[in-house]
Parts: sequence; C-alpha cells; structure tokens
Amino acid sequence: MAKLFEPMTIKDITFKNRIVMAPMCMYQSDKEDGQVTDWHRVHYPTRAVGQIGLIIVEATAVQSQGRISSRDLGIWEDSHIEGLTEIVRLMKAHGSKTGIQLAHAGRKADIEGTIYAPSAIAFNERYQTPAAMTVEDIQETVQAFKDGAVRSKEAGFDVIELHAAHGYLINQFLSPLTNKREDQYGGSSENRYRILRETIDAVKAVWDGPLFVRVSAHDYTEGGMTPDQYVEMAQWMKEQGVDLIDVSSGAVVPARIHAFPGYQVPFAETLKKETPIATGAVGLITNPQHAEEILQNGRADMIFLARELLRDPYWAYRAAKELGAESGVPVPYERGWV
Ligand SMILES: Cc1cc2nc3c(=O)[nH]c(=O)nc-3n(C[C@H](O)[C@H](O)[C@H](O)COP(=O)(O)O)c2cc1C
Repeated sequence: MAKLFEPMTIKDITFKNRIVMAPMCMYQSDKEDGQVTDWHRVHYPTRAVGQIGLIIVEATAVQSQGRISSRDLGIWEDSHIEGLTEIVRLMKAHGSKTGIQLAHAGRKADIEGTIYAPSAIAFNERYQTPAAMTVEDIQETVQAFKDGAVRSKEAGFDVIELHAAHGYLINQFLSPLTNKREDQYGGSSENRYRILRETIDAVKAVWDGPLFVRVSAHDYTEGGMTPDQYVEMAQWMKEQGVDLIDVSSGAVVPARIHAFPGYQVPFAETLKKETPIATGAVGLITNPQHAEEILQNGRADMIFLARELLRDPYWAYRAAKELGAESGVPVPYERGWV
C-alpha cells in the first residue's frame, strides 16, 4: 500500500490521503473587499474532485492592513463567512478536508495606508517603510487571528494553518533579521516567539480542531534563522498543542535560494526528528515516487503540493496509478481512469 494514499487522522479529522494542496494566493477578490468570487468557487472544488486529501485555502487576511495585495481573500469581518462557507461546502462534497491559512503580511503588505511590522525596516525599495507596532497594535493583531479562527470555525473548515513563513508578519517577529525590537517582543528567541505563542494560545481558546503552523525554516542569510534554531521554537509549538509544522523556507529578507526538487525536505526532517512533531514537506515535489520516498523514509508526514496542482488538478489520479494505489476517482470520471 502506498503511504501517500494511507489515511491519516489528527484529532477527530481523518484525511483520506497524505496529499495536501498548499496555500496559494489567487489575488481574485476583484472588488478588493476580501470576498470569495467565482474564481475561488471553481478553483478549490476542482482540486477536491481531484481527490486531494486536504485543501488549504490561500493566505487569508485577518486584518485589512495585513493583506499582501488589495485582491487577497479576507476574514477580518463577519461578511466574509458566507463566501468561505460556500467553498467549504463545495470542497467537502467531494471528500476533501478543508483548511484555511490565516495570515497577516506585515511589512510585505502592498496596499495603501500605513503598514505594520515589528520594526520600521522596509523589505526593499518597492515596499513602504512600515510603522513599528506598539504593544497595543500587537494585541489587536493577536485578537484578529483569534476572531479569524472563530469565523473559520463558523465557515466549517477542518484545519487552521497559521502563516508564520515567507517573511510575513509573524515570520518578521521570529527572525532576528527583521525584529530589532528592544521590548518583550524582541531580542531573545523567547521574546521573538512571543507573538506566535500568544497567537497560538488565542486561537486554541476558540478552536479545538487540527492546528498547523507554516514556518520558513531557513533565512539563507548570515545572522538569520536556520532549521537547527527552529527546533527550539518547534518544541514550544508542540507544547502549545500545534499538530503539524508545514516546513517552507526563505523570503524574510531578499536572499538567493538554490531550489531543486525536495530542497526543503531536510528541514522538515530535522524538525520532525529533533522536536519531535508531525511535519509537512513542500517545495518542488512533483513526482509521486519522490512523494512516496519522503513518507516511507519518515522524513515528513504529509506532502504539500503547490504549483504542480496548478498544472494538474488531477495529479492524485496519476499518482495513484503510478504507485498502484486507489485514489478514488469520482464515478462520472471513471471511464477516463479505470
Ligand atoms: C501562485 C502561488 C501563490 C502562493 N501563495 C501562497 C500563500 O498564500 N501562502 C503560502 O504560505 N505560500 C504560498 N505560496 C507558496 C506555496 O504554497 C509553496 O510553498 C511553493 O510554491 C513551493 O511549492 P511548489 O514547488 O510545490 O510550488 C504560493 C505559491 C504560488 C506558486
């Protein structure tokens, strides 16, 4: 039996296989109001027809000033719940479990008005210089993640993933390259972790389902974070009840990344073994045999696919055929695959 197609249970949620659609911003809220549009109503359920075990909806902003762009999905007000509920229903109709990535862009918000970050340092010349957050701003943002979790629950999602990677707000606090604060939110690793600690606690007060955190395990820059340094934070996440760490890397500062198939897998492996905690591997995984190797060798617990699922929403059918497993092709499509 291919491990890729073995079910996996976290809390009371059973994923029918280990294939996860990684969060991918679509920038299709074309009225710039954070609302779900027809694009999302087609895009996400298509991957559910494609038998993906868990589909994680793109970075969804918990505050309007925390959007990467004005066309991001949002969850900062109750009016967003209805559209999200609809895409959850459409995905679940085909047996996929559903997740949402709760996000705040921090200094990487490309929107009008003041943007916020731990320290007043711009990402590069294309971005605004952010305002350094006051403790009150931080508390409001933690509350916004909590409110986002309440709305996620109301919309019916099975999984919440907190976006602490790719140089967005929480990542900016975690990394010493972007966090130059001298208060309780900066300096030591305990202090840099504090906003994530408070966010996890706030979310867990209202959410008892599976909780994932996505991290950038490597800053690829002298003086930045490395996978070994992340082990300590991963242990704190585990103590706080995080179920899985989705292990990505980079983008907290502009740095060159040498990317090749599976380049981030060793980071997932380090956190899985040293913490220990369940991990997701992501990054240039396109080949079913490669996905299977990662799982069989115990290097990660779930396989996150991003661009490959843009090219082929039916990747799971192909992978099942190649690995001699059953993906569960829907009846109307059986004549194409069985
Ligand atoms: C169009 C696009 C949008 C993305 N948006 C997000 C996002 O919303 N949140 C996130 O954590 N990563 C995002 N990513 C990164 C992917 O989730 C993934 O980590 C990355 O593409 C590497 O995986 P891949 O080689 O399978 O594409 C995005 C990637 C792409 C291609």
